Amino acid sequence: MEKLKNLDKIVNLCKTRGIIFPGSEIYGGMGNTWDYGPVGVELKNNIKKAWWKRFVQESPNTYGVDAAILMNPRVWDASGHTSSFSDPKMDCKNCKTRCRADNLISSHAKGKVNPDTMSNEEMEKYISDNHLCCPVCGKCDWTPIRQFNLMFETSRGVIDGASSKIYLRPETAQGEFVNFANIQRSMRAKIPFGIAQIGKAFRNEITPGNFIFRTIEFEQMEHQYFCKDTDGNSSYELFKQKAFDFLIDLGIKKQNLRFKDHDKLAHYAKAACDIQYNYPMGWDELNGIHNRSNYDLSRHQEFSGKSMEYTDPFTNEKFIPNVIEYSIGADRLALVVLCDAYDEEILENGEQRVVMHFHPAIAPYKIAVLPLQKNLSEKAKEVFTLLSKKFMCDYDEAGSIGKRYRRQDEIGTPYCITVDFDTIQDNTVNVRDRDTMKQIRIKIDEIEQFVSNKIVF
Ligand code: GAP
Repeated sequence: MEKLKNLDKIVNLCKTRGIIFPGSEIYGGMGNTWDYGPVGVELKNNIKKAWWKRFVQESPNTYGVDAAILMNPRVWDASGHTSSFSDPKMDCKNCKTRCRADNLISSHAKGKVNPDTMSNEEMEKYISDNHLCCPVCGKCDWTPIRQFNLMFETSRGVIDGASSKIYLRPETAQGEFVNFANIQRSMRAKIPFGIAQIGKAFRNEITPGNFIFRTIEFEQMEHQYFCKDTDGNSSYELFKQKAFDFLIDLGIKKQNLRFKDHDKLAHYAKAACDIQYNYPMGWDELNGIHNRSNYDLSRHQEFSGKSMEYTDPFTNEKFIPNVIEYSIGADRLALVVLCDAYDEEILENGEQRVVMHFHPAIAPYKIAVLPLQKNLSEKAKEVFTLLSKKFMCDYDEAGSIGKRYRRQDEIGTPYCITVDFDTIQDNTVNVRDRDTMKQIRIKIDEIEQFVSNKIVF
């Protein structure tokens, strides 16, 4: 209960401090959509930059793409999304609330049964035997379970009646698979190699989302690693480790992370697991890692008629590569970063401060420039102009210095730089550390180096 309260506090803080706002709020909102504000957009961009740096820039043989959101609908036939990308839904006959049967069972069973391994009939029986009622009106009168496809449909074409159905992509992964041969040839890539992408995906999720945990529009950071079948197991283990290390290096507390193997594997998959995070609402998925065999490329070869074979340059052996997929939501990771960084501290004077202990590399602003008094603003603006060429900086001259420190703590700014009367004399400033609250004196022309050293990821 205490933890859920914390999620409310985080949601409120996000709204008041310009991190994340409810989508289309002045029109009464739009369920499960959120808008990142000026502070939040910096946080999310920094998370995406850190991921790209780790998984593209610093990973030899990994190639980035930015594929189209709208794809030929045959892509979704090949991937299996048109036939089986669905959730088991049922409606309350009394109040018409639509619920996911598997979620209802999971929250009742608390790990004792796994709805992913149950048929619709088994889920209906469990719901009836255990009197699982509607969370909104409390009545136990459900329609039978039906599978509900999660893809958003739209139409292509300008002439009425001649338009054709297309989809907003429900994952970015297919943009990586359909470009496998293009990238292999144009970059002369040799197996093993990776293709990575960051981009928007859309799913018609019905279940309420716990803030940005589950939304209908979100960003994914996906990485497909193409390897020989015989290297599948070792590559899967390698990506489990790389995915975990990335989170630890980002500053996520180890005790809040765990691996969870999937109980039920798709028929083509050889292994699959999630990394889960201990959210305010409990342990749940943060990202997935799958050994998908050569299923994806084989299906695209079958449906497109184009060869997805790779020829080994040393042995001339031809084969369709095995894929290890690593997939993480940028918004899901932003939620983890927010939950993990959030802290309430009691200070020596008995006051409380809320502080976001973000890793400095992903903190929205690296520096806040604060004139001690308004008549120092000219000098402070000079310092801001200088430092904002190098870092994302905030400038604040409103209110007492204590209040301004508190505001910067709440958005996780690692360094507050105060321009005071000594600055005019000797060109030094006061630098306050967000976490320790210790203050040191530094020459203005040494700040760039000082901060650069601290924000390395
Ligand atoms: N290509 C594989 C794939 O899309 P997934 O488990 O459906 O697998 C991968 O999604 C990741 O995308 C999840 O682990 C989660 O971080 C994020 N994600 C999925 N659905 C989401 C949603 N509705 N809202 C926010 N993030 C979502």
